[in-house]
Amino acid sequence: MRALLIAGNWKLNPTSTEAAAALAEGVKNGLGTATDVHVAVAPPFVFLTKVDQVLAGSPIGLAAQDLHWEPSGAFTGEISAAMLVDVGCTHVIIGHSERRHGMGETDARVNAKLKAALAAKLIPIVCVGETKEERLAEKTEDVLLAQLSGSLAGLTAEEAAGVVLAYEPVWAIGTGLTATPEQAQAVHAFIRKWLAETFGEATAGRVVVQYGGSVKPANAAELLACPDIDGALVGGAALKADDFLGIVQAGRDVAARGK
Ligand code: PGA
Repeated sequence: MRALLIAGNWKLNPTSTEAAAALAEGVKNGLGTATDVHVAVAPPFVFLTKVDQVLAGSPIGLAAQDLHWEPSGAFTGEISAAMLVDVGCTHVIIGHSERRHGMGETDARVNAKLKAALAAKLIPIVCVGETKEERLAEKTEDVLLAQLSGSLAGLTAEEAAGVVLAYEPVWAIGTGLTATPEQAQAVHAFIRKWLAETFGEATAGRVVVQYGGSVKPANAAELLACPDIDGALVGGAALKADDFLGIVQAGRDVAARGK
């Protein structure tokens, strides 16, 4: 059985250490010691140390939003896997669409970052997903195949089992448009089939595949109830503790029903 992972991607928010600490505090207090679903938050790099201090003693994971694949050297502006571990990170988001489409992140770079994260024992959350144009042109599966095979190239089955994937249709991110549970489940089943063909059935059964794209308390329950959806990567709704906790609660309700 796969435990659900609900992760909050704070992106370029909030604007101060104080506000980041308050948001983390709100999530921590609301969750308490519950571990029936896994929860993580991904603040900007500069708030990681503070948020790690706030989260001390709670089961909430700490994620970075990116990393560089090199361990050290002349890479101005970059952050290594070891640095993330040093400030308390447990997870790292890799290949978010805002980096793939906004910053020219390629599958080869995602692959290098993924290997660096795995070597540092960080849990990688690797994002994949098609644009609106690609979906309308019925290229969703082709796009995902290229992203999955490029991003996860060269991994052993054991390594792949430790990767979290996030299916995030680009047209649903920050737009208020959510994939229907049927649309999302169909893509998640496709991803699971690719994992089985590439790494074997047993590994495919272990990989956590999150859905992301305008997940809110109001739509989380039906998405999380889908058989191949193992959690959510939440953007906008992760910036208010109550909204994020509402999504976590939807996951806990689904888990309590035996998913
Ligand atoms: P959203 O973002 O929930 O605001 O759509 C999701 C994401 O980008 O991970």
